[in-house]
Amino acid sequence: MKKCVVLGVTGSIAAYKAAELVSRLKKRDIDVRVIMTEAATKFVAPLTFETLSLNPAVTDMFSRETPWEVEHIALAKRADVFVVAPASANFIGKFAAGIADDMLTTTVMATKAPVMIAPAMNTNMYESAAVQENIGILRRRGCEFIEPESGLLACGDTGRGRLAEPAELERRIMERLVQKRDLEGLKLLVTAGATREDIDPVRYITNRSSGKMGFAIAEAAARRGAEVTLVCGISALKTPYGVKRIDVVSSDDMFEAVDALFGECDALVMAAAPADFTPAEKAAQKLKKNGRQDMTLELRATRDILKAMGAKKGGRTIVGFAAETQNIRENALKKLEEKNLDMIAANDVAGENTGFGVDTNAVTLFIRGGGERSIALADKSIVADRLLDELAEYRLNTAGA
Ligand code: CTP
Repeated sequence: MKKCVVLGVTGSIAAYKAAELVSRLKKRDIDVRVIMTEAATKFVAPLTFETLSLNPAVTDMFSRETPWEVEHIALAKRADVFVVAPASANFIGKFAAGIADDMLTTTVMATKAPVMIAPAMNTNMYESAAVQENIGILRRRGCEFIEPESGLLACGDTGRGRLAEPAELERRIMERLVQKRDLEGLKLLVTAGATREDIDPVRYITNRSSGKMGFAIAEAAARRGAEVTLVCGISALKTPYGVKRIDVVSSDDMFEAVDALFGECDALVMAAAPADFTPAEKAAQKLKKNGRQDMTLELRATRDILKAMGAKKGGRTIVGFAAETQNIRENALKKLEEKNLDMIAANDVAGENTGFGVDTNAVTLFIRGGGERSIALADKSIVADRLLDELAEYRLNTAGA
């Protein structure tokens, strides 16, 4: 039987983008069933969705020939993934509060399928406490949110709230539909983000790592069934669904946290950028200029987490990262050897789309035993899945070895 996406469309100027989404999903031979709220029908005619999906667009509960209670349960059961795009503040509020007063809310509440929600609304509405709290409630219940983008909104404001592009919606839905649970049973420890090394109560040293790569790995692994603990330095990112997060500040704190958890894990992925050096002494009081024209800050080396874990690896799999700006291959292979790693993902942090803070990455993976795989430039979530594919394969190949 074909995979089925039930698509809820709510009242938003972005409803027209849902039409493109339907067309994209149909090209992938997916059975698409559209449910529109009454407000949605004011923006796009049901006929548009009916023509694109080749199915009736369900618009309200009481006027169909089929009894509505049968129809909404049938749709709820038929869904492999339930998507609401665009999702208005009103829909999010009703779903969070358990109010079921139209076809869309009654159906989404009756489904056991994964629910994905793509909000679209004015920035101030999106950032309002009510909407953010409702999103929090739904996230905790397991809904996956496809974050809105920033840009010029229909109301003339600029900010976050624009519905994600149809191509992005399609990618996320496909990822859900073909979801593998191949990492079930794997206890994975992931690190992410920069560390902060305090100089005095006011100043500190840090680096440009955003944590995006490590968070993407943690999220993808949890989605694929792994039990994931994320040791996180300084990062503004939200904890991915299903991931246990432990926040740390300095490189030495990260060492302690990883060291304490290492014994329990099957694999460690060190995507964090812990500082290599920290101030030799942290001043208790703010350092004063005192008329000085220059100043020397004494630093001491921190402990290398990977190297220490590599030295007591046992049967665990360890994946490191090598952030390089030159001689990538040579430097990465040296680290693989020196730190006793199983794999090292080398990336060129000087590249425009592969460095710190961006959403994309491209890496070359060097594997113990001589293997080498290149993971082409893509969104970090896709790179994360490819890296986990390699990790899973490596563990299969080396099991019992
Ligand atoms: N790393 C670590 N502990 C540190 C510093 C780095 O475990 N104190 C890890 C990083 O998480 C990464 C790997 O080591 O997975 C490589 O980091 P990188 O900065 O590229 O290399 P270094 O070993 O620090 O060497 P260099 O700075 O000389 O390139």
